[in-house]
Amino acid sequence: MARNKYDIDEVIEDKFDLNQLKRVFQYVKPYRGQLAIALFLMLSSSALTMLFPMFISEIMDTYIPEKNIRAIVVITILSLVIVLYTCVCIRFKIRITSRIGQAIVHQLRSDIFCHLQELPFSYYDDRPHGKIQVRVVNYVNSLSDLLSNGIINTITDMCNLIFILIFMFLLHVRLTLICLCGLPVLMGVIVFVKRRQRRAWQIQSNKQSNLTAYIAESINGIRVTQSFVRERENTSIFNYLSDSYRSAWMHAVKYNFIMWPCIDSISTVTTALIYVIGIGWISGGLYGVTVGILIAFTSYISRFWEPINTLASFYNSLLTAIAYLERIFETIDEPVNVKDSEEAVPMPPIKGSVAFQDVCFSYEDGVQILNKVSFTTNPGDTYAIVGPTGAGKSTIVNLISRFYNVDSGKILIDGTDISSVTLKSLRKQMGIMMQDSFIFSGTIMDNIRYGNLTATDEEVITAAKTVCAHDFIMEMENGYQTQVNERGSRLSAGQRQLISFARALLENPAILILDEATSSIDTETEILLQKGLNRLLEGRTSFIIAHRLSTIKNASRILYVDKGKILEAGTHEELLAQKGEYYKLFMSQYDFLVSKQN
Ligand SMILES: Nc1ncnc2c1ncn2[C@@H]1O[C@H](COP(=O)(O)OP(=O)(O)OP(=O)(O)O)[C@@H](O)[C@H]1O
Ligand SMILES: [Mg+2]
Repeated sequence: MARNKYDIDEVIEDKFDLNQLKRVFQYVKPYRGQLAIALFLMLSSSALTMLFPMFISEIMDTYIPEKNIRAIVVITILSLVIVLYTCVCIRFKIRITSRIGQAIVHQLRSDIFCHLQELPFSYYDDRPHGKIQVRVVNYVNSLSDLLSNGIINTITDMCNLIFILIFMFLLHVRLTLICLCGLPVLMGVIVFVKRRQRRAWQIQSNKQSNLTAYIAESINGIRVTQSFVRERENTSIFNYLSDSYRSAWMHAVKYNFIMWPCIDSISTVTTALIYVIGIGWISGGLYGVTVGILIAFTSYISRFWEPINTLASFYNSLLTAIAYLERIFETIDEPVNVKDSEEAVPMPPIKGSVAFQDVCFSYEDGVQILNKVSFTTNPGDTYAIVGPTGAGKSTIVNLISRFYNVDSGKILIDGTDISSVTLKSLRKQMGIMMQDSFIFSGTIMDNIRYGNLTATDEEVITAAKTVCAHDFIMEMENGYQTQVNERGSRLSAGQRQLISFARALLENPAILILDEATSSIDTETEILLQKGLNRLLEGRTSFIIAHRLSTIKNASRILYVDKGKILEAGTHEELLAQKGEYYKLFMSQYDFLVSKQN
């Protein structure tokens, strides 16, 4: 999918791939035993209820004229037993199918979620998160009924149809043939609506996806919305999207409503025809039609159209479900292009030499972000990356952890190409603190321990102390057990940074990557933090990105990056002596500080 937005529809497939349905049956397969039981219950009960019109015919034509009360009582009791059996069967069938439906949906949801966890950053860069959520939650849920009840009901209805036809043929062949005249008309209607209906449901799912994307975006951006007083504009965008969804739904459902009246009309016409012809044949004494046969036959006719009606409504739900299934399988099939190669081996313990060799990289085709970036670090050194906004600093460090594949060139760690080792073994040895680090809902302790579940409380506290987070954590009502919300909404920006920082340290990484780790922290705390960190960084290679030059002055080497290229590299003193870009940057910050002091 190309880069997407809440008001851009996703591309829809023209032809349905039947393999999608086969794949669904893979999910159903483990439950085939239970489904067979449910099916047996339904078929046996409906086969027995087929006898009712036969009973009526016998009573009317034989037992009433013969005044055989005993036979009538026996048939009545038998009918009651059949009704009771049917009730029990339906109850068990509902229990079985609900269980199976939920189990299949759970499996499907779990597969899609597992795959989402594997998908690279680029997948998430390309689409609104709401469009992903709607697939995992809404689309999967809508399949529950189809995958359990739908299958059973369809098979039962098909068998019912066959049973009814057999009974009708047994009762009277000519009347049955008249009844079947309506079927070609119905087929014509189905062929007419099929394509249109499928397209309408695809459009409906797109509109639902757009709406969910906008809701998710609005919730995430609510603070900005309110601070810029954009509520009215956002409401009108929402209304527009919601209205598009509503009309798409109405348009799609319109096709469903074509079927039902159509079947109803055909059934009414054929029944009327049977009555007229049947009564004519009875009065003419033709073809052995009796009153009993005609009553029984018309009773079968009403039952004959019943399963056709439910099959048609199943067909409607199938088309809706197919529109959702396409999206679900599209996500499950989304290629994981950042993954272990087949020959991937675990990364040996990292000593810390990182080398970029002519690395070129672009997020989108044709927009080059990094252009032949080359540098080599010594193990244990601290490397600082500086440069203007959008220069490519975060991109460089994201590539070290292989969050994206490079377009060309190589990244080596201790001489090993990172594309030849397993992602897990590579990332496990890195402590990464991203520029927009995330706080999860849970306790502060859980958040720091996020990447290292075996860390003891003491280790968590030590990490927090190193980044000077311990004091503010202890001041909170429950200390490390204080609950924080998703995105850390209860914390200040600096506090969030410190928690993420402690989280990165707790991994005990061989390579530490800090992208603007201290940008929101006051200078005094930063100086304290720096002292603790210097001790901790000994022996580890670290990459520090910072705009505040005081943070990186003491780095072993500083890389000045602009427009995806390394323009200058050296120690602080060397770069100042060069009087190049770094010098200009330093002087501008220096002048700024001096002007502030005056
Ligand atoms: N996910 C993305 N998709 C497309 N382009 C991106 C993406 N992330 C970054 N870019 C582009 O890549 C360039 C480099 O971005 P990067 O985040 O590496 O900059 P940076 O040097 O870290 O800037 P800052 O100091 O603002 O953090 C920018 O021009 C940006 O527009
Ligand atoms: Mg950045």
